Amino acid sequence: MNLVLNTLGAGVDSETIRALLPGKDVEIIDTFDMKIAHCVGCNQCWLRTPGICAIKDDYETIVKKMVGADGLWIVSGTRFGFLDYKGKRLMDRILPMLNIYIKWCDGWMRHELRYHALNIGVLYQGAGDRAMLEDWCKRTAANIGGHSLGAIPLDESSPQTDGRKAGKPILPGPAGHLVIINGSPRVQKFSNTDKIIHSFAKGLEEAGIAWELYNLADRGKWDSTREAILSHERILIALPLYVECVPGLMLEFLETLPSERKAPGQLAFLLHGGMSEGNEFRLCERFLQSLTSQLGYSYGGTLVRGGSFLIRTSKEEARARMVAPYAKMGRLFAKKGDFLSPEAARFTGPEQFPWLMRKIASPFLKKVNREFDEFAANWGCTRPLNDKPYLK
Ligand SMILES: Cc1cc2nc3c(=O)[nH]c(=O)nc-3n(C[C@H](O)[C@H](O)[C@H](O)COP(=O)(O)O)c2cc1C
Repeated sequence: MNLVLNTLGAGVDSETIRALLPGKDVEIIDTFDMKIAHCVGCNQCWLRTPGICAIKDDYETIVKKMVGADGLWIVSGTRFGFLDYKGKRLMDRILPMLNIYIKWCDGWMRHELRYHALNIGVLYQGAGDRAMLEDWCKRTAANIGGHSLGAIPLDESSPQTDGRKAGKPILPGPAGHLVIINGSPRVQKFSNTDKIIHSFAKGLEEAGIAWELYNLADRGKWDSTREAILSHERILIALPLYVECVPGLMLEFLETLPSERKAPGQLAFLLHGGMSEGNEFRLCERFLQSLTSQLGYSYGGTLVRGGSFLIRTSKEEARARMVAPYAKMGRLFAKKGDFLSPEAARFTGPEQFPWLMRKIASPFLKKVNREFDEFAANWGCTRPLNDKPYLK
């Protein structure tokens, strides 16, 4: 069965959807009026109540349907060439379909499937970047054991992408002041991005650079966050990778920015995530670069580094060790004013772990998985972490 989640409501009729998916056993759910919040990365669905999301809204109905489906289609509007936040938000909530254990799969580090593989497709409205959306379907489907069903425009006459505007360049060289945005939906206290930012900022401070921080998880402060972005020249957005791209919450915030920047401005990004291989981040990096020009900024590069998932679950000392290298990158950014240098590129590490390294790292993965069990037990979890609550 193919489950189709229609975020457009009356914006598209079910006949149009069915016509684009001929011969497929299809069940359409209209999510337009459903109450669906953003994933906030609380990890309860992995570590406290395995397979059950802590957010009690209409998404639980969707997860239960997914357990009986083998294909999932998202019907979505587009912004910045990608899914809009309503479409992306649906995918960010998919975590209960996986469990926290990590393993090697076809040469890549992946989470285990909680139930079964799901194939993923997108039906999109408006100016989507089809190649990017197709790539995103492939990558997202691979994470959940399936294959891509493709990215299909609802209207073939739609433009391929939003209009691109070249950003007005700022003067190159060191930054005097930096506005830093934490793009994570997780509350600041528990956010890995926050710990990374503070280490990075140590490097900035050593070089005499002033900085101020805003957290998108703090929705009540979005007005002042936007004001800070619009009134400063240099902006750094630090964000965790969420289902192969930007978190839905950050997309929602970005959609509130004016579509044209009047004064020159530079956007740079610090992108990190759970998996360790650089390749994991390349689609999101591509999106961030294209986003920058669509917002009318010049691009200050993206610093990419994986392996951040364990920051939260590690003890104080190990945590400090994990974030320490970012201080050096803070000093580098202070000196260069961007992440476009070869040193910043080297910070990522390998694009994919070679075979021998994967073999050597296998006992380490087992150890990490045991540590997840311990962490969960301390959190009061009483079920196995690979539990299948909706199959009972
Ligand atoms: C909904 C969700 C989706 C995620 N998707 C990915 C992903 O596609 N690839 C990855 O490497 N890490 C992924 N992660 C892991 C986060 O990027 C990682 O845990 C990060 O350290 C979280 O930072 P934060 O605590 O500041 O939110 C995901 C986490 C969540 C909650």
